[in-house]
Amino acid sequence: MPRATRVAIIGAGPAGLLLGQLLTVAGIDNVIIEQRSAEHVLGRIRAGILESVTVDALARAGVDQRLRAEGLRHHGIELSYRGARHRIDFHALIGRDVTVYGQTEVTRDLMAARAASGMPIVYEATDVSLHDFDTDRPRVTFRHAGSAHELACDYVAGCDGFHGVSRASVPETSTRIFERVYPFGWLGVLSETPPVADELIYASHERGFALCSMRSKTRSRYYVQVPATERAEAWSDARFWDELRARLDPAAAQALVTGPSIEKSIAPLRSFVCEPMRFGRLFLAGDAAHIVPPTGAKGLNLAASDVLYLADGLIAQYQRGDPAELDAYSAKCLRRVWKAERFSWWMTALLHRFPDADAFAHRIQQAELDYLVGSEAACRALAENYVGLPA
Ligand code: APR
Ligand code: PHB
Repeated sequence: MPRATRVAIIGAGPAGLLLGQLLTVAGIDNVIIEQRSAEHVLGRIRAGILESVTVDALARAGVDQRLRAEGLRHHGIELSYRGARHRIDFHALIGRDVTVYGQTEVTRDLMAARAASGMPIVYEATDVSLHDFDTDRPRVTFRHAGSAHELACDYVAGCDGFHGVSRASVPETSTRIFERVYPFGWLGVLSETPPVADELIYASHERGFALCSMRSKTRSRYYVQVPATERAEAWSDARFWDELRARLDPAAAQALVTGPSIEKSIAPLRSFVCEPMRFGRLFLAGDAAHIVPPTGAKGLNLAASDVLYLADGLIAQYQRGDPAELDAYSAKCLRRVWKAERFSWWMTALLHRFPDADAFAHRIQQAELDYLVGSEAACRALAENYVGLPA
């Protein structure tokens, strides 16, 4: 374990691993410190829609071979409500598309590249603490395999997710938090069954929202909206499939192929932004700085764009001695973050049943869906946000 590095990266989720790879490719020394094991990190099932900005970032990091071979290009999505499906054709509307490739696979590919690079990565680190990031000589201390370590660095990248130590190390008086917690979550099931349709189906139904997604031609990922208080143990596979079927249009309900769940879990829905995203020599990136509800499929993509800006800022600093991009980091990220927050909040409001919604709110929601599917302009607005705004 080195005692000093240029950039100490906290967290080996997609943000930390991608940053490590982009810096390594640029010849900038870095160390990644992760509190869990690699298996634990890979066991977390998360979303799987990649914007082209994210695909390009992975290509720049040299980890796009499997993604290019196995990722599924999707030219649109379907919206389902009142028993009928309406296709939104991204390709026809704006000439762009998205790639379906699980975050777990992105993480696996990045871990393999890290191992191949030989750059240091510490798993199962405990007591990770950040020190002196308001000075020119930050340090990170942690314990690993029974001994205490101290790592001196130029910069700390806080890529340790929503519950990480990085944001928590910043005095509360230095941050402003913006937050919305939704009164529902998503119960998700992964199954070794062919997807019900070629594209994703986002369904708005009286019983609640449902989403039909996939990981491959033989593996499906489905979600149903449940109250925030619900527990996954209360849902047998049969109960899940019945509830999903009840929320789909008749053709999809008929076509749905069910099977045993490989994974079943509930994710709460939250919108969250921490401003700013830089404190002295500590930079927050990804879920450490912001959370979006999964409805717009933006979480992983925002993490990737933060990390691209941060990598470019660090490269400009080290290669040209130019601090301008690092100085602009927080403001540049937050402009993009807030647009994704807006889109994710809007998609969530459009498609979910809110427990406190009255009859008026319900009619407005139906009118918004009718307007959307009937208006090319509205479809184009959805499409350009879903495939991703320019980096
Ligand atoms: N010390 C070291 N590592 C930590 C600490 C800590 N104190 N706390 C958390 N971590 C690790 C976690 O174990 C996790 O592996 O930081 C990592 C953060 O990874 P993610 O939560 O995946 O966050 P991020 O890399 O920003 O990726 C964002 O994940 O939650 C989804 O929707 C989100 O898809 C988006 C993506
Ligand atoms: C997923 O496949 O897990 C997924 C897809 C789209 C979303 C959210 C999750 O909006």
